[in-house]
Amino acid sequence: MFRRVRILRPLVASALFFGALAGASAQDGIEKRVNDLLARMTLEEKVGQLNLISHGPPLRWQDIAEGKIGALLNFNSAADVARAQALVRQSRLKIPPLFGLDILHGFRTQFPIPLGEAAAFSPRLSSLASEWAAKEASYVGVTWTYAPMADLSRDSRWGRIVEGFGEDPFLGAMLTAARVEGFHKGGLATTTKHFAGYGAPQGGRDYDTTYIPPAEMHDTYLPPFRAAAAAGSDSFMAAFNALNGMPSTANPWLLTEVLRNQWGFDGFVTSDWSGIHELIGHGIAADEAEAARKALLAGVDMDMMGELYIKYLPTEVRAGRVPESAVDEAVRRVLRTKFRLGLFDRPDIDPTRNDDGFPSREARQAAREVARETLVLLQNRNDLLPITPRVRSIAVIGPLADAQRDQLGPHAARGQSNDSTTILQGVRERAKEAGVAVRYAPACDLFCKKTDQLPAAIAVAKESDLVIAVFGEPQDLSGEAASRTRLVPNGKQVEVLEALAATGKPVALVIVAGRPLELGALSEKIPSILMAWYPGTEGGPATADVLFGDVSPSGKLPLSWPRSVGQLPLYYNRLPTGRPTLPNNRFTLNYLDDEITPLYPFGWGLSYTHFAYRNATIAKARLEPGDALDVSVTVTNTGARAGQEVVQLYTRDPVAMRSRPLRELKAFEKIALKAGEAKTVSLRVPVESLGFHLDDGTYLVEAGTIQVFVGGDANAAAVGEVTVADTIRIPPSERRASVPIQAQ
Ligand code: BGC
Repeated sequence: MFRRVRILRPLVASALFFGALAGASAQDGIEKRVNDLLARMTLEEKVGQLNLISHGPPLRWQDIAEGKIGALLNFNSAADVARAQALVRQSRLKIPPLFGLDILHGFRTQFPIPLGEAAAFSPRLSSLASEWAAKEASYVGVTWTYAPMADLSRDSRWGRIVEGFGEDPFLGAMLTAARVEGFHKGGLATTTKHFAGYGAPQGGRDYDTTYIPPAEMHDTYLPPFRAAAAAGSDSFMAAFNALNGMPSTANPWLLTEVLRNQWGFDGFVTSDWSGIHELIGHGIAADEAEAARKALLAGVDMDMMGELYIKYLPTEVRAGRVPESAVDEAVRRVLRTKFRLGLFDRPDIDPTRNDDGFPSREARQAAREVARETLVLLQNRNDLLPITPRVRSIAVIGPLADAQRDQLGPHAARGQSNDSTTILQGVRERAKEAGVAVRYAPACDLFCKKTDQLPAAIAVAKESDLVIAVFGEPQDLSGEAASRTRLVPNGKQVEVLEALAATGKPVALVIVAGRPLELGALSEKIPSILMAWYPGTEGGPATADVLFGDVSPSGKLPLSWPRSVGQLPLYYNRLPTGRPTLPNNRFTLNYLDDEITPLYPFGWGLSYTHFAYRNATIAKARLEPGDALDVSVTVTNTGARAGQEVVQLYTRDPVAMRSRPLRELKAFEKIALKAGEAKTVSLRVPVESLGFHLDDGTYLVEAGTIQVFVGGDANAAAVGEVTVADTIRIPPSERRASVPIQAQ
């Protein structure tokens, strides 16, 4: 035994050593190929590499043969990819283009939308969903996705909250890295977007300006992007918004100082759609040439759908306003990525490939597995769910119960409505097995403007033992350019739901939506509420699995669910105030007309069983540099069914040189427990993750006390404290190597 270890160690060490050497020489090889190619390119061919054009107008296919296009987007079929590749073969240098598409939560098979996927609190499942999406897309020749979206958001008025992971930087960092890894496994290059601060527009208005102090950028908004860079994201996308008055697309602090100098990113940055042209709208460029100049010099390498680089950069270079070395550097980044992906060495796609064979049985299974872990049981009075054998007849009510397209959610790539199994179909199939009758009535149209079908729905409800009401947001109300000022369920949904509740029949509400909705009195009137997000192609069977109790729900909210829109922005990791909320003191943190707390906190989600936490133990009370906060806790399933729990660890630095959040998620683990089973969970937080940033990017872990909380949501119980022995100060120039990725 001893001997084997001795022999193995040097072997492992030398394998690592030679592995590192091989990596370094592969990198050298790539740099050499990049520079050789660059040296042979004309200025026009160079700017061609920086030009990203969409399928459809204004694409002139002949431009591909003339070396004027470096990347193409909205390509989703092998026939089109092959057509472009054949044209590339006619070009002088035959540089393969990238074929890009927005693939966020599936290509043909749709997985739950990213915000829902975040509710699974499972990097494994996030990676799996992205891998499936990538496998299907790369089969037909797509090479590059505009995902993951790493925009943290605390404001559900913003429609694009659906595309991200919610409000927490730590959860966001873990899941964004997992998504990058999954896309890579499935064969797609990634674009982490939208860099940065796009998720905090004023008033929740998409495209509007954001004001975030630099320290807050580093602590809260940047960690998911940094995690993506560390996970090897191939490219980044500059955001549409202005950050503190400087549009991201022309922001050297973001694109050069932070991304390249501090994080060491050496891939390329693309603009968002027409983002360079929009610098004129932002009022920082007088004309298109100035916009192109500013974007390139700030660090945007590729121009998506602007055609400004191709039009203006050659003249700008020849006039001496842009150094050719800046163009060369941008081209180098694009070519480096293409070489790394192996695009130069791949055969062209077979044009007869298509996605007719998707979704495969395996893909459907994976989509169902992910979807059922994303469902969040928000409330369940009197244990109305799961459906018991006493229920002999079910009324399924609501247009979203049978909405094949809507359950896919926005940005569904090649998702086809016909592939979806709806919630109604899922419930019907499962009910048939159990010999339970199901009747369906929509009650209103999709947008619930007209309620002439309501009386029929009430009649169906009255004749049934249980009502499953499926309401929420049609998919067109969610996603890009879908900001809302009211989060009350749209149309007459509230009226319909109140009428259903008034029948006296037990009602379980399934919400299909891309954001939390304002439930008002509905949370009193309806006993059980299950958040299903947009659950994707297999949303129906997954929802039925949970409703019938074949699996216990285990999703946890990746955001604080507001009581009313007036509470927004709302988030658990807020700073303390000098006047914390006191119930009978008006002059403390309060609203006059509503509670100060969310309706359901971050991390919240019920199960069909219960979990008890005991014996939380902190291994070491005094932490030296290099140590970790190690906490173990025993979690017992005290109910009669199997279930999964997300064990969450939060910390607070109660006295620091500047105010620190009341709670910060620092670790979590999802565990499965059979009825009666107990497990001891160990959670670890490196001491270097307990700090915060200063405005200049310095990272500081201050000596002093850190409080620790462990439990099943953001209101987790205090379990003790530790002392950080020494202050750790890391200047921005050393961040790359020494600040842990999960550090805030
Ligand atoms: C969106 C990006 C997207 C791009 C290409 C833009 O409108 O902001 O997220 O990747 O379009 O479709």
